[in-house]
Amino acid sequence: MKKTTLALAAALLPLLSQAQDARIEAKVAALMKQMTVAEKVGQLHQLSGRQFTGPASSDYADKLADIRNGKVGSMLNVKGVADTREIQALALKSRLHIPLLFSLDVIHGYQTVFPVPLGESASWDMDAIALSARIAAREAAASGIHWTFAPMVDIARDPRWGRVMEGAGEDTFLGSAIARARVEGFQGKQLGATDSVMATAKHFAAYGAATAGRDYNAVDMSNQQLFEVYLPPFKAALDAGAATFMNSFNTLNGIPATGNAFLQRDILKGSWNFKGFVVSDWGSVREMVPHGYASDLADAAVKAINAGSDMDMEGYAYSQHLEDAVKSGKVKMKTLDDAVHRILVKKFELGLFDDPYRYSDAAREKAVLSDPSHRAAALDVAQKSIVLLKNERKTLPLSREPRRIAVIGPLADSQRDLEGGWVVQGERAKVVSILDGIRSHAGKAEVSYAQACASGCAGSEGFADAVATAAKADIVVLAVGETWDLSGEAKSRTDITLPGQQEKLFSALKATGKPVVVVMLAGRPLVFNTIADQADAIVYAWFPGTEGGNAVANVLFGDYNPSGKLPITFPRSVGQIPLSYAQYNTGRPVTDEKNVVYKSAYIDSVNTPRYAFGHGLSYTDFKYSGLALSSAAMSPDQKVTLSFDLANTGKAEGTEIVQLYLRDMVSSVVRPLKELKGFQKIHLKPGEQRRVSFTIDRNLLSFYNSQLAWGAEAGDFKLMVGSASDDIRLEGELKLQSK
Ligand code: BGC
Repeated sequence: MKKTTLALAAALLPLLSQAQDARIEAKVAALMKQMTVAEKVGQLHQLSGRQFTGPASSDYADKLADIRNGKVGSMLNVKGVADTREIQALALKSRLHIPLLFSLDVIHGYQTVFPVPLGESASWDMDAIALSARIAAREAAASGIHWTFAPMVDIARDPRWGRVMEGAGEDTFLGSAIARARVEGFQGKQLGATDSVMATAKHFAAYGAATAGRDYNAVDMSNQQLFEVYLPPFKAALDAGAATFMNSFNTLNGIPATGNAFLQRDILKGSWNFKGFVVSDWGSVREMVPHGYASDLADAAVKAINAGSDMDMEGYAYSQHLEDAVKSGKVKMKTLDDAVHRILVKKFELGLFDDPYRYSDAAREKAVLSDPSHRAAALDVAQKSIVLLKNERKTLPLSREPRRIAVIGPLADSQRDLEGGWVVQGERAKVVSILDGIRSHAGKAEVSYAQACASGCAGSEGFADAVATAAKADIVVLAVGETWDLSGEAKSRTDITLPGQQEKLFSALKATGKPVVVVMLAGRPLVFNTIADQADAIVYAWFPGTEGGNAVANVLFGDYNPSGKLPITFPRSVGQIPLSYAQYNTGRPVTDEKNVVYKSAYIDSVNTPRYAFGHGLSYTDFKYSGLALSSAAMSPDQKVTLSFDLANTGKAEGTEIVQLYLRDMVSSVVRPLKELKGFQKIHLKPGEQRRVSFTIDRNLLSFYNSQLAWGAEAGDFKLMVGSASDDIRLEGELKLQSK
């Protein structure tokens, strides 16, 4: 009986949603009939509240007047029940009472701050990542927010670019899985539920490939790279239901993304059939003038909307020029209507016409923002994000026996730096610092502290005191890294070594002869060769959020056995950048590092990274054995199962992230040496063993050929299974037959 009811409900759902779509279509059509061209243009105009996340623009009082007059469709940077209610009330005084959309950069948490996205990506844990987005959505949606400008799904292979922090790293396969998880987390089961917000897949497209890692810089890349590496996470976000897309500041092969019809009309709204709307990036419509693509603001408005940019964020191009452009015929009414229609549909789907204040409920805001389960989740995600880069002679975990631990460093007692870049509503006072975390977890161990140098570590005056503190201790925990403000938008660096004198501080402490455990905070891969060579252990904690200090302490004391794996390559020097594990072999590969004459090599550095994509240690050991394929050959319509045994051969319970890579040996377009094609997180008790399997089908073996056709070519494939991209434990061969 129950089963029949469920089946009936499942069958009815699509019909109900069709009926709902039809109802919304009718309402949008009726509303649009009443709208003047100016009112339509108003829906495409997005303004910032008092907080600025881009170059400041017009006067706030003017903005309020425009809202009152129906000239604004959406606001960003207005948050909280009180403020959103106040501003929404103004919009409702306009002639047609169309409610505003409130948007905000809820990137890694709202009040409860989660690890920065690159850090979370190191968890390779889709449930944890989705939960983090879910909680961020719950909190934001209780504070009047309808729409977040996240996830950023830009693939990034250049750690000079400060925004690597906001994405999922260098890999398309992992990045696509994370894009899906984040969209599903933000949007929940259904748009319009008051615990969910609309997601934005950004920045469309290829922004992560900014030349030389300099923010906003031009991008020039082949369509093959674009389709194969940079677009799939966007497609994954779309397939997961992303309600909106944001375009980007960069040019792509000479055309600004904002004015790019190939990207927005042909791909996104054409072959991908995207039904949501596209918001420009902050002022990116206007920026087509300095790019040299539009002659003036009026021309920029025409080019942007014709190319498929629906909403103009803080650009004032649409608000000032679109009406005239429609009158003069430079923009067809049909084009304007399509953009307005897309935006209004979302406002209806969110239920804002039924109740414009439904996301702004003071009682819900209070209850949701103080929900203790949110902090518990933040701790869980933060510890899953931490990567143990090095652990010589089992220096970690730390013992809680009566010993003396010296906690040292400019970031040890910092709260702000644990939060990272995009903090919109974080409660700083509640952030657990690394020092506090260690103190509260230390048991019988005695903890001493010396800051050694202030944030940035410009001076070494405090080094002597720090060395004395270290000399009295049994072990040193040194907290160093980047401060929060060195990563993020407009934070590109040409030098990604540890800022200031931090490596010198390390050397001074190391000279005491005490074991030194380095905890590093950062929003990007840093270069720290002395520490990498000489530290006894290195824990990479990114910017871990509100619960960061507890997460770090749990890892240090072994209450959590680290399981994170790098989602991005760590180079040895800036000179190696861009560096990805998914490289090509070249015609002159290095086979012997000692003999690189006339090889594809450097004369002053090895090619290998400092830490490879997928690297991350555990307090236990995992043994891989017994690789088998269900068949050594497959036809395009078949599937093959690859399986192997994974055993925990160490003494601690632990989680291994097993990684499947493959290489197409010979093809019409050369393929990378390795491409990630699968991963699983496996938790095993000491002595436990499990058979792990992956299914390989034609899609997994496919790529874009020179005609941009997606498909697999017959021939030999190498399959590799391992613990990191440079730690392959098992290999197999598979033949794809032509029929
Ligand atoms: C950033 C976007 C962000 C927007 C609004 C821009 O400068 O590139 O990622 O969503 O500002 O704050």
